[in-house]
Amino acid sequence: MSKISVLGAGTWGTALAIELANKGQQVTLWSAVEREIAALAADRTHVTNLPGATLPASIRLTTDLADACDDEEILVCAVASPYVRETAAKMKKYVHEGQIIVNVSKGIEEKTLLTMTQIIGEEIPGARLAVLSGPSHAEEVSRNIPTAVVVGAEDPEVAKIVQEAFFADMFRVYTSDDVLGIELGGSLKNVIALAAGMVDGLEYGDNTKAALMTRGIAEISRLGAKMGGKESTFYGLSGIGDLIVTCTSNHSRNHNAGFLIGQGKTTEEALAEVGQVVEGVNCAKAALALGKKYKVCLPIVEEINDVLFHGESVRDSVMDLLRRNPTEEYQGTKR
Ligand SMILES: NC(=O)c1ccc[n+]([C@@H]2O[C@H](COP(=O)([O-])OP(=O)(O)OC[C@H]3O[C@@H](n4cnc5c(N)ncnc54)[C@H](O)[C@@H]3O)[C@@H](O)[C@H]2O)c1
Repeated sequence: MSKISVLGAGTWGTALAIELANKGQQVTLWSAVEREIAALAADRTHVTNLPGATLPASIRLTTDLADACDDEEILVCAVASPYVRETAAKMKKYVHEGQIIVNVSKGIEEKTLLTMTQIIGEEIPGARLAVLSGPSHAEEVSRNIPTAVVVGAEDPEVAKIVQEAFFADMFRVYTSDDVLGIELGGSLKNVIALAAGMVDGLEYGDNTKAALMTRGIAEISRLGAKMGGKESTFYGLSGIGDLIVTCTSNHSRNHNAGFLIGQGKTTEEALAEVGQVVEGVNCAKAALALGKKYKVCLPIVEEINDVLFHGESVRDSVMDLLRRNPTEEYQGTKR
């Protein structure tokens, strides 16, 4: 049995805490948000997003970060991406040698263009880091639906420890050494999910969405490989796997926000209606900046930025994509 703390008691943090506790791990679930912990303590479930999934009695709840980081072997960082840096900065004084930090948050910081694991590494130098990602809706993991994910770490021993910690009958965990590729795939797919939601909102058909998803992964792999990720990672669980699950499911806030925009709502109206952090919106700006920085052509990312921030209609954006110069399908990582 391992001692594991999950930091962030939102939908994903709670689902992972349940998965780990059901496997027999000794789990502590922490949140900076007191009312989240109070609600979980009272109901032993996440009433709004995971109704029906009961927290095993063994899960300890706390709002005390020192306590949560105390003698745990693994710390899982599951706060939403805008809070990763401040949470890591607060954790720094409690993290001690040998502890492993597993990032499960997805996003790219707009100001620095860093991924979440890079941010944690910057705030906690020398930390033993890993990332866990893949097609894994919290709603389904908490119901113990067969799921497969990948854990990436530069140190293969760290990847192995995390794989063993999470691996369960219904939760298959692969390993990889491509931390950057895993994180870029998991973050950039949220931008494509917004686009998929938009074309669903416009009531275009399956052809349109399949084209968008396929060209979307082409953009992600082109940029990701130029940045140093492995092209094969983008065709794995954390790349195309996560893209498929996010673009085709109504569990996805990114898809839902895109859907509302496709139906004619403004970005602000759509975000207000979804009511939670829609990470693809922040990531769209970061992706555009990365495309410029690395000189990679990202037509879908550019159009999504025009729709989200410059008032272009989704219909015009789709036409812009269709009317681009005819080209070869596979352009490698050159452009
Ligand atoms: N929901 C999923 O199925 C899923 C699956 C894989 C990865 N993820 C990733 O996990 C991360 C969390 O997603 P979620 O669905 O749990 O989101 P959520 O909105 O349900 O939860 C947000 C989390 O952020 C925390 N938070 C809010 N304000 C904070 C603050 N000031 N300081 C510290 N923490 C604060 C909350 O406590 C909560 O834990 C995201 O990056 C998401 O992309 C989610």
